[in-house]
Parts: sequence; C-alpha cells; structure tokens
Amino acid sequence: MSLRNFAFQRAFAKLFVYNILFEDSESDERYLGLDENSSILSITGAGCGVASMMSRRPQRLDAVDINRHHLALAGLKVIGAQHLADYDIFYQLLGRGYLPKDAQGTVASLGEHMPAWMANYWRRHWRRFSRNSIYMQGLTSRMLMGLRKMSGTDALWLTDLIEAPVEERERAIDAKITPVLTSPFVRMLMASPIQLLALGINFNQRDKILESEGDENLMEFYVNHLKRLAHTDLATNWFVWHAATGHFNHDHPDAVPPYLRRDRHERSSDTSPTTVRFHHGNIFDRLENAGTNTWTHYTLCDAPDWMPQDVQSKLLDEIFRTSKDGAIVLARSVEQDSFIERIDDGKRFQLLENESNRATMEDRSRQYRRVDFFRVNH
Ligand SMILES: C[S@@+](CC[C@H](N)C(=O)[O-])C[C@H]1O[C@@H](n2cnc3c(N)ncnc32)[C@H](O)[C@@H]1O
Repeated sequence: MSLRNFAFQRAFAKLFVYNILFEDSESDERYLGLDENSSILSITGAGCGVASMMSRRPQRLDAVDINRHHLALAGLKVIGAQHLADYDIFYQLLGRGYLPKDAQGTVASLGEHMPAWMANYWRRHWRRFSRNSIYMQGLTSRMLMGLRKMSGTDALWLTDLIEAPVEERERAIDAKITPVLTSPFVRMLMASPIQLLALGINFNQRDKILESEGDENLMEFYVNHLKRLAHTDLATNWFVWHAATGHFNHDHPDAVPPYLRRDRHERSSDTSPTTVRFHHGNIFDRLENAGTNTWTHYTLCDAPDWMPQDVQSKLLDEIFRTSKDGAIVLARSVEQDSFIERIDDGKRFQLLENESNRATMEDRSRQYRRVDFFRVNH
C-alpha cells in the first residue's frame, strides 16, 4: 500500500465519518439469500446493512470494521433492532436519530448487550442522540450541511421534485447545486485530503473513479452523480433525502434502510437466534484467525477498492480458505471490471451475472459501477 493510502487508512479509522451506509441494503437483501443457516463476515461501515440482515435471523454474524465509531454505531443499530422492543422508540432513536427525552437511558439499556468497549463508547457518546439528530453529525454529514447552506436545498425543494420529470429535476440541480459544486471555493476545499476523508474515498479509489467515469475531477463526478440520482424514485431514495435534507423522508415507510421498517423490526426481535460478534480491526485479522468452513456469506462494501492488487489477491485466498462450499461474496466497486475476475480465473469465484447486473441497476446510492455477487466453488 502506498504511503498516502496508508496514511489515509490510519486517519480514516480514527474519525466519525459516516452515520449511514451508502449502499442499497434493500437490493442486497434480495440477492444475498440469507437464512437461519447463514454465517456472515461483514465489513459494517455505519451498519445499515448488517442491521438489516438481522431480520433474516442468520445463525452467526461477525461484524468487523477498522473504524470504531462506525462499528459502535453498527452495534447500536444491530442491538437496537434485536432488543428495543418498542418500535416507536427504536424509530425515534435510529430513524430520526434524535431522542431528546431519554437518549441516555435508552442507549444504556442497549449497552447491556454490547461488548464492554462498545458499551463504554456509548456511555461517552449517547449525547449524539440528544443534542440534535445523529444524522447531522459525522464528517460526511457536516460537509453535506455546508453544501446545503450554500445551495439552499431542503425538504421543500426536494418534495417539489418528487413528481417532476427527470429533465426538470436536472434543471433544478443545475440551478441550485452545480454552481456551488463548481465554484472555485468548493473546488479548492474538495481538493484537500480532508474532503477525501469526508467522502470515504482514498487516493486509489479517487483515481479509479476518475478513470472509469472519464471525469476531470471529483466535482465533475459529483455533478454527474446527482444527475444519476435524479433518475431514481425521489420519494423513497433515502440517500437523496439524507444528502439534500439531513434526514429521511418520514412520510414514507419505505424511504428508510430496511432495518428501520416495522416488519423487519418485528422479525429481528429478541427471539433472534443470531450469535453476533463485533471485531474492531482489519478484516484480515478476522480471516487469519478463522478456520476452514467458517462462513457462508462475505459482504465487503467497496473496501477492496482501497486495496492494492496483491492485498486483494490475499483477500480472495483467505475468503476461499475460510468459506463453506457455495458461499456468497458481495463487493461493490467504482471500477468497470471486477477485481475478483481480474485475479481469479473463474474456478474458485463464479460471478452470478443476473443477480449482479440487477443489483448494479437497482443500487439507489448510484455510487458504484458494479455491485457484484460471486459464488465460491470448492
Ligand atoms: C470502504 S468504506 C467506504 C464507504 C462505504 N461504501 C459505505 O457506504 O460506508 C466502508 C467501511 O469499510 C471500512 N474498512 C475499510 N477497509 C477495511 C478493512 N481492511 N477491514 C475492515 N474494515 C475496513 C471503513 O472503516 C469503513 O467503515
């Protein structure tokens, strides 16, 4: 790994960057095929994906992240889904991200089900849910808040666009947001490594984005990205609501990540048979300490995009060694071709083309060129 990517990873691991997962976990749950026999190794990010998996009642979940803020938030979402029996309180805490009356007591009650370090983390940080919404906090949300202030977008602006045709939405983006993103001030800000941290894009991945999209710079990429988002259902696209308003569309029950929906909450409850373990650290530590035949599912986010090819290759060897026959690997990428296909000759890892094509089209974050599902063949 180059020195600047190494420095990025070290800095990123220490910062509270994300409060949601920027991946479409509703689409993932369609193709992952989780059930009560599943054992999952998952990089969590901010945890909306792993929390959504709980409603499938898998046998075992190993949740891992190098960033302890993200892992602790993922833990709160997973354990909240299992142990906060009152759906309204659960939704207030994690759907609105704001529980002014009893954030301390509610978060402490979940601490009983957490590993000691995580319970301790929330003893220090429960005020994130009482000062204002957690969805206004973290590096990415703070950056988005600044952009909203400069562009003047809000829930009214977005609501007006829900019924509008795509061309009108694109015109609205060009009128309000493009001038801000392309202004010399924002361009200068965005060129700084701090903004790469806020976006969660390391130097490797930035170069891959610019190469595969043919954009001049990240701002051009983001203007085009917004136009791609304009093609999605704006009533339910929670990524758009999060960015344009700082909250979810609470008027629509399907406009939130699946784990926040009433039916998933019912299925994730207390009686869940899942053994959950949280591992703060590198996924390689987890893999290296595991035996053969351990997991049926691996969900990697787009973390392989951060890795050089020799590390990606080691990742595949370790997945192959620790997987059960027929295991499923889910990985996202900003690249046009898959690192797995580049490294493997198709004998160990078989691309599930239909599922991958559909998931790539469906992912409403619109951030990835590929959402790939592979089957491991032993
Ligand atoms: C790769 S980042 C990118 C953004 C991601 N698509 C999202 O929506 O959160 C996602 C998460 O992967 C974690 N991560 C990156 N490399 C990792 C590794 N080698 N082991 C464990 N976690 C890792 C980061 O800390 C972060 O929380």
